[in-house]
Amino acid sequence: MTRNLILCILFVSSVLCTNFQNDNYKYLQEVKRGFDEYITTDKRPSYLNESLAKFSLPNLFRDNAYIGTTPTKEVHAVEDDIVCGLCYLAANFIILERRKGMPRLHLKNEVAQLCQVFKIESDITCDGVVELNIDVMLYIIDNNVNVTGSRVCDILLQSSCNSTEFEWTVDIPEGQSPSRPEPVGDSTFKILHVSDIHMDPLYTQGKVKSCNEPLCCQVDQEDGDSNTGNVCGYWSSYGNDVSEHLVDEMIRFANTLEFDYVYFTGDIISHRIWSTSEDNNTKTIKSLMNKFRTGFNVPVYPILGNHEPSPLNVYEFQNTATSNLSTQWLLDLVETEWSDWIPESARDTISQGGFYTVSPKEGFRLVILNSNIAYIFNWWLIESDKDPYDQLDWFVRILEQAERNNESVHVLFHHPSGDKEILKVWSREFNKIINRFANTITAQFNGHIHVDRFQVYYNESNKDQAINVAWNGASLAPYDYANPSFKIYTVDSNTFDIMDIEEWTFNLTLANLHPDQSPEWYKIYSFKDAFDLPALQPDDLGNLLIKMATNHSLLADYHIYRYKNSESAVEAGCNSDCQKRYLCQLSTYVGTDSSKCSYLQELYDQNL
Ligand SMILES: *[C@@H]1O[C@H](CO)[C@@H](O)[C@H](O)[C@H]1NC(C)=O
Ligand SMILES: *[C@@H]1O[C@H](CO)[C@@H](O)[C@H](O)[C@H]1NC(C)=O
Ligand SMILES: *[C@@H]1O[C@H](CO)[C@@H](O)[C@H](O)[C@H]1NC(C)=O
Ligand SMILES: *[C@@H]1O[C@H](CO)[C@@H](O)[C@H](O)[C@H]1NC(C)=O
Ligand SMILES: *[C@@H]1O[C@H](CO)[C@@H](O)[C@H](O)[C@H]1NC(C)=O
Ligand SMILES: *[C@@H]1O[C@H](CO)[C@@H](O)[C@H](O)[C@H]1NC(C)=O
Ligand SMILES: *[C@@H]1O[C@H](CO)[C@@H](O)[C@H](O)[C@H]1NC(C)=O
Ligand SMILES: *[C@@H]1O[C@H](CO)[C@@H](O)[C@H](O)[C@H]1NC(C)=O
Ligand SMILES: *[C@@H]1O[C@H](CO)[C@@H](O)[C@H](O)[C@H]1NC(C)=O
Ligand SMILES: [Zn+2]
Ligand SMILES: [Zn+2]
Repeated sequence: MTRNLILCILFVSSVLCTNFQNDNYKYLQEVKRGFDEYITTDKRPSYLNESLAKFSLPNLFRDNAYIGTTPTKEVHAVEDDIVCGLCYLAANFIILERRKGMPRLHLKNEVAQLCQVFKIESDITCDGVVELNIDVMLYIIDNNVNVTGSRVCDILLQSSCNSTEFEWTVDIPEGQSPSRPEPVGDSTFKILHVSDIHMDPLYTQGKVKSCNEPLCCQVDQEDGDSNTGNVCGYWSSYGNDVSEHLVDEMIRFANTLEFDYVYFTGDIISHRIWSTSEDNNTKTIKSLMNKFRTGFNVPVYPILGNHEPSPLNVYEFQNTATSNLSTQWLLDLVETEWSDWIPESARDTISQGGFYTVSPKEGFRLVILNSNIAYIFNWWLIESDKDPYDQLDWFVRILEQAERNNESVHVLFHHPSGDKEILKVWSREFNKIINRFANTITAQFNGHIHVDRFQVYYNESNKDQAINVAWNGASLAPYDYANPSFKIYTVDSNTFDIMDIEEWTFNLTLANLHPDQSPEWYKIYSFKDAFDLPALQPDDLGNLLIKMATNHSLLADYHIYRYKNSESAVEAGCNSDCQKRYLCQLSTYVGTDSSKCSYLQELYDQNL
């Protein structure tokens, strides 16, 4: 946010504020007056709600806003500066009141009311989420004398507030990994990639599939209406999570295909974010891991998603071990649950921070990162944002050893780096590491976004050269209106490069019409064929983005694959705004750098 607006909001000086004269700015001043009066008089002014209610910010913290150009959530029209200013005022108010001794219950009600007045989520969701999060917020305020509203908002709303205050670097050795042999592909093996299962034990056929909460089809929600079509189907429903029998079905069908390893890129727990608990999450995590253990007879390499803790997103990394706010229960749980697949020697780092490295085969190494700590909704970043768990530092040391040992590395982590909810400085440093070890890292694998995607990384010293690719596993959950799916990679047995990718899916609408039959799974595409590529090396993918920018029917094809031919995606289509947005998503890997995206968009416009 501009410095003058910050000063203007915090100090309301007519000189500083002369440039900000629109209506929203006037309402913002009313909000400030209301909070100030509350702080000085200890009484909630009667007009405060009315001033706050001038701003409507529905679904402010939900991502994935569109299918094509059709919004999948309400989109607010308030300027970034103003959203950020409101956040500064509200957060400063909460912090000040806490310092003055306002008790937990009272503060909790204030935060929940803010969530409700701004219509960020339904009253039920606001109450539930605030109840789950308030103790962490208070702990951080109580134990960090220097915490300010601006620090809170600069993290939580990093795209709106656009702060530059976060600045740290990781030590990376000079040089460049030696280049590796090109894959020949005469001997290969396969990897099954499953992501974002969001297994929902409360999923109930016959309930409403569209409701005011972030998740519907819940046992305690209203019955659906088959006349209007607002009713949850047997297997799952678009916009929602996954029944246990769909998880079993996915494992059954996957086993009719061949693969040697399973990559699972996180998100086990459902989107019932307003009522999670350590006990319930533990049960669901154990239950899914048990399905993997008994269902797959090959090693599974799992990672943690942002939904696994309770409350979701909140990974504590400051060793607040004595506090009941610690995430240690989760790290200890997965250390045990993953022990069938991860040797004991590799498990220390799991209990330390949810990351690990293993070598499944001679010359081949996996590095599993816990990127959730860099997610902007993780409150502990307010205390400290510098390389949580020293994980990136550890990553560099593992890569140095791998380089020395001539190993080929696959890196797995939940959030695609560079996405707008990943702390920008984290993705910038991560990208430096990718650049340094580009030849050692043969592929990256992500989840979280629930649609099919890949990201091309470029050489920082020569943006024409593509140097790495991250493949997204899409999701079993149709939460973002895509059909359920998984991928199978063909991998070169000598170099461990990705040779080809198949994506498997089924038509969920059709499957729900026949609950008594298995869904009709089919292979929707093979990557090389679909995009007519000689290979899937980084430069092939770099060339593909250029081809997409010039031949837009490739982007139309990508739109269908992205949602795996779901009805809403077919209906919505993807116009030129949507296609240009895709070009950016495929080429952005550091939140602060849009140069490749602008270049591809210009190329797109020249080829209309
Ligand atoms: C202000 O709004 C909140 C949320 O809608 C509501 O719970 C509260 O009762 C309102 N307070 C007043 C004084 O109207
Ligand atoms: C708070 O900020 C002051 C001034 O920048 C600094 O000297 C002090 O060490 C900080 N305290 C903590 C606990 O970070
Ligand atoms: C964010 O800040 C940077 C650096 O101050 C500036 O270059 C950029 O234009 C800003 N972006 C937005 C969207 O305000
Ligand atoms: C835990 O799950 C049970 C159903 O299995 C449910 O009744 C209960 O409300 C859940 N607890 C929380 C805190 O959500
Ligand atoms: C956590 O501990 C604090 C202080 O010991 C206590 O007040 C609070 O109720 C506890 N919270 C939970 C969820 O157990
Ligand atoms: C990136 O470009 C620089 C300068 O041309 C070169 O030295 C370096 O090897 C390139 N990096 C990779 C991974 O190829
Ligand atoms: C490094 O590994 C590759 C296979 O990934 C192999 O072809 C090459 O010969 C190895 N190089 C050395 C120096 O061992
Ligand atoms: C999916 O199945 C439904 C129900 O049979 C059908 O109307 C729809 O056209 C199918 N979608 C596709 C893309 O084939
Ligand atoms: C554009 O891509 C389509 C595949 O979607 C292909 O059939 C067509 O031949 C391509 N056109 C050109 C000019 O390359
Ligand atoms: Zn997810
Ligand atoms: Zn996620």
